[in-house]
Amino acid sequence: MKRLKLVSRTPAETRRLGEAFGRAAQPGDLLLLDGPFGAGKTVFVQGLAAGLDVQAYVSSPSFIMINEHHGRLPLFHVDLYRIEGRLDPETLDALEDYLGRDGICAIEWPGLVPPPLRLGGSELRFAPSGDTTREITIDTPSDRLATAARDAGAAPAAETRD
Ligand SMILES: Nc1ncnc2c1ncn2[C@@H]1O[C@H](COP(=O)(O)OP(=O)(O)OP(=O)(O)O)[C@@H](O)[C@H]1O
Ligand SMILES: [Mg+2]
Repeated sequence: MKRLKLVSRTPAETRRLGEAFGRAAQPGDLLLLDGPFGAGKTVFVQGLAAGLDVQAYVSSPSFIMINEHHGRLPLFHVDLYRIEGRLDPETLDALEDYLGRDGICAIEWPGLVPPPLRLGGSELRFAPSGDTTREITIDTPSDRLATAARDAGAAPAAETRD
């Protein structure tokens, strides 16, 4: 597992990071996007969609939970914010189904996603550190995505885990 950190100073920078991930994305990639309200998770997914050549605007899927977009690869944008307690069996089945569909899965509020479904996924944690600054920590098992993040300005964190 590689850990990288970067500071985004504007929404555009977060969007560019998403775009870099979108260009590097391969079928089956899973991105778990953690962080509080307004941290920039959806801004990242808008860039991700652009990097995947999705033409339509990505809004927050908070009310429908899963939005499907079609670009170079399918993008499944999931938001689990409204779910409390635990994921019910139907939601788990649906998630598992999307994860097996050879697209890119980006999940906001992934706290309730059970460990077996996170396997192989990359975690991005968005931490607001000022009005428009966000510290973004990326843990990824993928050299390809780590390279994309580095090209977008992320620096390896002091500690690198394997
Ligand atoms: N560096 C930055 N990166 C991303 N967004 C930023 C940044 N600076 C300011 N912002 C603003 O913060 C807000 C981020 O909103 P966004 O919807 O992406 O958050 P979110 O993490 O998806 O929140 P939610 O949990 O409510 O879905 C936007 O209004 C954006 O313009
Ligand atoms: Mg959001």
